[in-house]
Amino acid sequence: MIKLAIDLGSSMTKIYRADTNSGVVLAEPSCVAVVGEEERVKAIGKEAKNLIGKTAERTSIIYPVYEGEIVNMRLAAAMLKEFLSRIAIKSAALRRAQVLISVPCGISERALASYAALTEECGLKKVWFVEQPYLAALGAGVILTDTDPVFCLDIGGGVSNAAVISADGIIAGLSMNVGGNNMDANIISKISNNNKLLVGALTAERIKNEIGSLAPGALGTIVAEGSSTETCQPSATSVQAGDLTDCIRVYINKVLEYASEVLRTLPAEVAAIVNRNGVYLSGGIMKIPYVPQYIGSKLGMRYRVCEEPQFAAVLGGGVLLRDTVLLRHFAKVIEA
Ligand SMILES: Nc1ncnc2c1ncn2[C@@H]1O[C@H](COP(=O)(O)OP(=O)(O)OP(=O)(O)O)[C@@H](O)[C@H]1O
Ligand SMILES: [Mg+2]
Repeated sequence: MIKLAIDLGSSMTKIYRADTNSGVVLAEPSCVAVVGEEERVKAIGKEAKNLIGKTAERTSIIYPVYEGEIVNMRLAAAMLKEFLSRIAIKSAALRRAQVLISVPCGISERALASYAALTEECGLKKVWFVEQPYLAALGAGVILTDTDPVFCLDIGGGVSNAAVISADGIIAGLSMNVGGNNMDANIISKISNNNKLLVGALTAERIKNEIGSLAPGALGTIVAEGSSTETCQPSATSVQAGDLTDCIRVYINKVLEYASEVLRTLPAEVAAIVNRNGVYLSGGIMKIPYVPQYIGSKLGMRYRVCEEPQFAAVLGGGVLLRDTVLLRHFAKVIEA
């Protein structure tokens, strides 16, 4: 039987196939390009993302899963159906497939119901919903027990999750609408103010991913292209990594504020174990140099970064799908 773990991330959708050795079978931007008032679908995934900021007025790019919530059901369904077709599984096999969906920590009943409606619309019949921190922990290779709680912190594109969990459940946790998208937006205003250059969202993300760093004295340089804010003409300027540090750090600090709230509520014994075990870090933002070190030093604890931080949740989904007993234990809703 086909087994799929799906992470409908704000930035990127990831699908992991657990019944074969295929591993991650899809990683595509979670966006759809639509045309006109009727929002006719023009492109999905990589092709749609590539159009960001380059289209004429009639085309817009929509992220149907925004900050962990399904904000446009029709387009979310079109996107997920297309991704499922790209991994070449026939619809009859999909109906029988076991599917695990990662959802934000502490998801509301209403938001969970939208995920259920989405999967039903996509013809998926056996679906489990599991809160992201369990999956991130399992994806990091943690063996969850009742007596050894772990602290997981994931920073993605639109959402961050912080939770202390054990095999018994989430002891304390929350998700917050803070992530890489905020950093990209901050980079746009910084370059506009400092360099008098307006760059697009794609360029800002690329700059963050290529030279972004929290290393003391970060040295990277990149040529950014866009339009001059003074002459409105196409223009280019050199941007230094050191100038962007604050754009990243301010949002890491914000996440850490929330994470500290989570830690403050822990019972003393749990706090002692978390202090000993440290924090497990995941999400695409952990790829920015020195972000993990910075988080570890701010929290004053040991840190471990998942081997593939962006894929931690789907890798953990794979672990669960291979272990039926654990799966039933962690699933939020079971649909037969
Ligand atoms: N090599 C990289 N260096 C720095 N940042 C990166 C890199 N690769 C991806 N990112 C950033 O990581 C973020 C996406 O991370 P991730 O895939 O974990 O998010 P997501 O799961 O799609 O979204 P969310 O969990 O917020 O719903 C984006 O901001 C992206 O720009
Ligand atoms: Mg994510």
